[in-house]
Amino acid sequence: MDWAVEADGLRCVLNKRAVLDGLDLRIGAGQFVGVFGANGAGKTTLLRTLLGLQPLQDGRLRLLGRDGVALRTQVGYVSQSDPLGADGFLRVRSYVATAWQGERWGLGLGTSAQRAQAVDAALHAVEATDLAERGMDALSGGQRQRVRIAQAVVNPVRMLLLDEPLSNLDPQAQQRVLQTARRLCTEQGITVLMTAHDINPLLPHMDRVLYLAGGKGRLGPVDAVVNGPALTALYGMPMAVARDAGYVFIHPAGGFMPEQAAHCGHDHGHDHSHTPDEANT
Ligand SMILES: Nc1ncnc2c1ncn2[C@@H]1O[C@H](COP(=O)(O)OP(=O)(O)O)[C@@H](O)[C@H]1O
Ligand SMILES: [Mg+2]
Repeated sequence: MDWAVEADGLRCVLNKRAVLDGLDLRIGAGQFVGVFGANGAGKTTLLRTLLGLQPLQDGRLRLLGRDGVALRTQVGYVSQSDPLGADGFLRVRSYVATAWQGERWGLGLGTSAQRAQAVDAALHAVEATDLAERGMDALSGGQRQRVRIAQAVVNPVRMLLLDEPLSNLDPQAQQRVLQTARRLCTEQGITVLMTAHDINPLLPHMDRVLYLAGGKGRLGPVDAVVNGPALTALYGMPMAVARDAGYVFIHPAGGFMPEQAAHCGHDHGHDHSHTPDEANT
């Protein structure tokens, strides 16, 4: 098995709290992994750790067969918080092009043609070719997330880290983003890690699920991880999993307590009027 991520004993302390606390991981190359856990469980911290944006206190990391954190040209990242800022004035094509790293490879004269080709290919891969001349500030939420993914894959990346790309999207736009990510995984062999609040929209698309709790994680096929005993061990409290009409509900065994409801990803993704994750970025 080729590993995209080999992590042993990752430890990351933020605000005197061990957000990652002895996390071990083996993620196979070319897999689509959904990353879940309560707000504050460390999903964003894990992605930032892989990127080298977040220093580790302890642990060993190997990415794409190489010791250490990600090489910028090999791993694409779509961050959770998304202030458009000055990028709002850019056209989609220019926005995607800003991430192109071709110059770094010393390609010389061919650079601008190659950049244009890479931008076209990236927009095509996310089915956003028709948006190329639009202004970034004129996109819908779902279009914008797909264009952000295009920017993340404008270099020939082997791994793609997507932090809550579905939040605040309607179910149809969520599925479009998911299909885009799934296609990049299947057709280009890109390893995808996608964090999400609700597991349900990802069920048809992901190969593996990673659940984070208490600084540790549990990775495996959905049925091996999303079950009462596995989540009870991970959370350190009795957890139960109910299934209904193809949906998964994760809740404390014995029923919901209101203060826990927000932490269990049970809401089907239908109600996006609240934005609990924004408070955590
Ligand atoms: N830059 C930071 N400095 C201090 N604490 C942070 C920082 N980023 C996140 N945290 C804290 O680390 C914990 C994990 O955060 P995060 O990785 O964002 O969780 P998640 O993405 O799963 O919601 C939270 O308690 C959060 O408040
Ligand atoms: Mg987060």
